[in-house]
Amino acid sequence: MGKEGVTHRHGNEEEERMADVVELITQDHRTLEELFDELQKDTERRPELLDKVAALLTAHSRAEEERVYPVVAKDAGERDEAEHGTEEHHEAEDMLERLRAMPPEGREFEERLKEFIDAVKHHVEEEESDILPALREAVSAERLQELGAAFAERRREELTGTTAARR
Ligand SMILES: [Fe+2]
Ligand SMILES: [Fe+2]
Repeated sequence: MGKEGVTHRHGNEEEERMADVVELITQDHRTLEELFDELQKDTERRPELLDKVAALLTAHSRAEEERVYPVVAKDAGERDEAEHGTEEHHEAEDMLERLRAMPPEGREFEERLKEFIDAVKHHVEEEESDILPALREAVSAERLQELGAAFAERRREELTGTTAARR
């Protein structure tokens, strides 16, 4: 069904539109990258920024793992990629936890921060170049929107603490 790409609609922001899961995931990636830039520049706001990154990264990753990766594995036949992605989520979260336990300045912190950021950027790159294109190929535009709604709902639950914290 040779429909290409996403339909970008620039409507009213208050108007609730059905966002495509690939768009939603990609938006989060850009937000994370902005937070990383701030983290590297603004040393005073680091504790607050690390909290923000942790909340967003956790919610984003749980929503991907539970609502998106299963479809990537089954419908797109990318089971290995989905498993690998989940491992990378856990590695990144471990790095971030260690970072949050450290005094947020000095050489050691800078090095660990860079390692963490590089790891997440690498993971984002893999999602955007392999996983998400494979998903887009495998399912209909309508399904991508349904997945968008499911992703957004799961992400919101995590962000608002309506489900159990990460175990
Ligand atoms: Fe992602
Ligand atoms: Fe991910």
